[in-house]
Order: sequence, then structure tokens, then C-alpha cells
Amino acid sequence: MAHADDTSDTTRRDFIYYATAGAGAVVTGAAVWPLINQMNPSADVLAQSSIPVDVSGISPGTQITVLFQGKPVFIRLRTEEEMGTLNDVDVSSLPDPLARNANLEDGVEATEENRVLGENGEWLVMMGVCTHLGCVPLADAGDFDGWFCPCHGSHYDLAGRIRRGPAPRNLPVPVASLIDETTIQLG
Ligand code: FES
Repeated sequence: MAHADDTSDTTRRDFIYYATAGAGAVVTGAAVWPLINQMNPSADVLAQSSIPVDVSGISPGTQITVLFQGKPVFIRLRTEEEMGTLNDVDVSSLPDPLARNANLEDGVEATEENRVLGENGEWLVMMGVCTHLGCVPLADAGDFDGWFCPCHGSHYDLAGRIRRGPAPRNLPVPVASLIDETTIQLG
């Protein structure tokens, strides 16, 4: 099981965890995806079709990054304040009006509720790979207080939807489910 680090000095920092038993932090901070990719996760990591992730150490307003099937996945616990900022957005005005959520039917709208997980939509789980050319976006950054991709300037909001810049699509939501209050299953 991958573990979130709950020490106080790690707040608001991004981590990448290898999704294997006894995994530890491997990379901190932002990185360009091709560089991470060169770390060549082993074949057994790539082959895992689903993994449980311990999210007990994530506090509201922070996230972890889990390496799943060779790609980074952001898992963020949103604050009530963050959730409230997205209700008024007209989906038809978004660069990508589709939810891109593997847990829902194709073609559903990119409303806030179609992008999130949990009873109150408190969890956001999405691929951490910019839909432009594949960099890893930075958290808590950009014009919409969500994620910012510094490679060419794409701004994503707090639901991972592209709002400005060259990225053509919202950050995809992978197959994910809340197993219990402290565990999210990927895949
Ligand atoms: S790779 Fe993210 S903006 Fe180009």
C-alpha cells in the first residue's frame, strides 16, 4: 500500500510514491514527466491493475502523487472552500466541456460533481500528466488556484479542468473508488 506522509513539514509538497508494498518517497517537487519516465518502473509495477492507497495522512487542501502503472496520479483532499468555488462555472464555456472520468459514461459534462469522488466530492483523483505534451503540472499554482503546467503555460482549476493555455483536455480521472475513509483504490 502506498502511504501519505503525515509529518507537518511535508504539508503542501508533492511526492511521488512507487505503488508497491513498503513504498517510500522517490521524487519531490515538480518534474517533467519524461524525466520521471526514465526512472523505468519495474514490469511488476506497470502490470498492477489496481492498488489500494492509504490516504489517511492527507489533510484538506493538500495532495499526494502516487505512481500507478508507470504514471503519476494526483490524489487531493479538497477543502469546503475549494469545492464552493466551482459551482458557478458554465461548463459550456470551458475549453474542454467533457468530464474525462473513467468512472462515468463517455460524454458526460465536466461539472464539478462529475470530476470528484466521495460523499461530498471531497476527493479529486486524476492523472498528473498535462494533456498538452505530458509535463507534470504544479499544485496550488496558476490563475485558477489549481494546477499550473510551466512547460507551456496551461492552467487547470481545482477540479483539474483546463481553463487557459494550450492543453486541449481536462486532466483525466482514472478508475478509482473510495474503499473506506482512509483508502482509495486505483484501478
Ligand atoms: S506540456 Fe503542459 S502546457 Fe505544454
